[in-house]
Amino acid sequence: MNKDEIILAHKEFLFPSVFHYFREPLVVARAKDQYVWDADGNQFLDFFGGIVTVSVGHCNEEVNRKVHRQMDTLQHVSTVFLNEPQVALAAKIASITPERALTKSFFTNSGTEANETAILTARCYTGSSEIVALRHAYHGRSAATMTLTGQSTWRLGPVQPGVVHAPNAYCYRCPFGLEYPSCELKCAHDVEEVIRTTTSGRIAGMIAEPIQGVGGFITPPKEYFGIVAEIVRKYGGVFISDEVQTAWGRTGGKWFGIEQWGVTPDIITSAKGLGNGAPVGVTVARAEVADAVKGVTISTFGGNPVTATAAKAVLDYIEEKRLPENVTEVGGYLRGKLLEMQEKHPSIGDVRGMGLLQAIEFVEDRKTKKPATALTLEVLEEARRQRIMVGRGGLSGNVVRLSPPMNITKTDVDEFAGRLDASIAAATAKFQTVAV
Ligand SMILES: Cc1ncc(COP(=O)(O)O)c(C=O)c1O
Repeated sequence: MNKDEIILAHKEFLFPSVFHYFREPLVVARAKDQYVWDADGNQFLDFFGGIVTVSVGHCNEEVNRKVHRQMDTLQHVSTVFLNEPQVALAAKIASITPERALTKSFFTNSGTEANETAILTARCYTGSSEIVALRHAYHGRSAATMTLTGQSTWRLGPVQPGVVHAPNAYCYRCPFGLEYPSCELKCAHDVEEVIRTTTSGRIAGMIAEPIQGVGGFITPPKEYFGIVAEIVRKYGGVFISDEVQTAWGRTGGKWFGIEQWGVTPDIITSAKGLGNGAPVGVTVARAEVADAVKGVTISTFGGNPVTATAAKAVLDYIEEKRLPENVTEVGGYLRGKLLEMQEKHPSIGDVRGMGLLQAIEFVEDRKTKKPATALTLEVLEEARRQRIMVGRGGLSGNVVRLSPPMNITKTDVDEFAGRLDASIAAATAKFQTVAV
């Protein structure tokens, strides 16, 4: 099919809810390392990584070699028979969880399923059904995980009972109108109020992203999760860290985002970057928590030998190439470039994130902080012209999200930063022209 045929077929044969960026959809033909080529042969520098998923570069040779070999050896038997790749991956994950405290894994195919499994596990372990989640969260697209999600855009259809939402730690737009640190972490302490006023006081647990991804890389103060985890446990719940975006070194220096906040959760969920594009989700829990799931449950493709091989190869690659260290260094360099841009462009209200998970929030005015959604859309269009790939997020769609492969270099950042700066300048000029 040529490009136009692909666009037409997409329109005719896919649900219209399968949304895409840009006024005219971008058709991608191939990718290698940090680059992606469109159907017209244009090369893009990819700083979104397929939504925080291409962790070790597109079509990574070391990973793919192992995957090809596994494809030709054993592709599928389901979980009713044992296979080595599944247990090897589980053992590897157990060896890198915080304090090695989470040792038992359940594999699925996506972050949504990983979170479904976590909620089920928390409910089995505690005998309670009530879950606390956060506003601005994103946890998936099933009925239960849409209910956990705290953004109207991503909550389709009826919600399920048993979920309450606490205000999040969004310092740039503090839900309490306070400022850190004089706020004394009001948002964290408010979780106790939420439990006491909107639940039975006996909760199954709380689920939260260490840095809220789809919400626009909203990064809490360092003390936040320590306080919150203690409150959750005080009321009998387990603490679930949704690391679909923040795991595997993405935040720099550590395997998991929650480690940046000094907390050891009871359950961690992840997917995305674990497989570098292979569909694999994992729910890893403390042994006694995992053991509470009585009876049997099955995921036909979960722990599939091919995707498990991909995931194990990705983790080995991250470890061998010391990518968490690279993330700290190159992520810090990228952050510096973004802060320079903030000084230059008044529309950049906030720069935030950690490691190679960095975001800029656009506002119409730094005083009112009115979200500049239309400008953000234009920045994306200009970024396309500049041949860079970036993501969008935030409740108002006014956040540009950057999550390149974790093995990029400072040279990539230099190339990217120049083009992003030009994109913002061009988008801003358009708006100024319209205003005149
Ligand atoms: C934090 C978080 N949790 C869960 C999910 C759902 O993952 P999936 O799209 O693989 O179902 C996502 C997806 O963006 C996510 O960012």
